[in-house]
Amino acid sequence: MTKIIKYSKEEKNNIKLIEDLVNFLFINLENFGDPIQYIENAMNYAFERTNSNGGFAAVAYDDNDVMLGVAVVLYTNMKGVFPENLFAYLAVDKNHRHQGIGSQLMQYVLDNTNGSISLQVDPKNTARQLYEKFGFDVKYLEMRLYRM
Ligand SMILES: CC(C)(COP(=O)(O)OP(=O)(O)OC[C@H]1O[C@@H](n2cnc3c(N)ncnc32)[C@H](O)[C@@H]1OP(=O)(O)O)[C@@H](O)C(=O)NCCC(=O)NCCS
Repeated sequence: MTKIIKYSKEEKNNIKLIEDLVNFLFINLENFGDPIQYIENAMNYAFERTNSNGGFAAVAYDDNDVMLGVAVVLYTNMKGVFPENLFAYLAVDKNHRHQGIGSQLMQYVLDNTNGSISLQVDPKNTARQLYEKFGFDVKYLEMRLYRM
């Protein structure tokens, strides 16, 4: 039985939890991952360890409190200009995929956020199917100017 727990700014000084979340994501995002510093930055934003609008991490655990999946949402406070929620990360332990845990985390995120949600997904990532199943659609082409 999977249970999902939501963590946010109340845990901002829980360094062990934050490290566990960062490491879990770093390992399990695999080919679609980010440098660990980027993941740390997102976690610092979500937990308001930096000047931010906050957010949360939703964590799926098994009966023995082993972490099976993590979703991270950042609040933008930009309603009308950008979606209010940025779905920054979703990953499930590679040994526990295709058991519905990613879908449970998606549903949890939808149930625990207000307003619109944006996310980025590599067009080649099969996670796209999961997002489409939950109603996500491509509305705009995202363009970036990369600068150092
Ligand atoms: C994407 C991810 C979170 C899905 O987690 P999961 O627990 O396996 O997801 P579910 O079991 O709930 O599957 C949900 C749906 O996703 C799709 N899906 C997920 N992984 C898939 C895969 N490898 N191949 C094909 N479809 C897949 C299917 O449509 C599936 O629906 P179905 O079970 O009705 O067929 C997981 O594969 C993962 O952690 N991947 C690596 C990290 C990643 O890419 N994250 C997203 C970055 S944008």
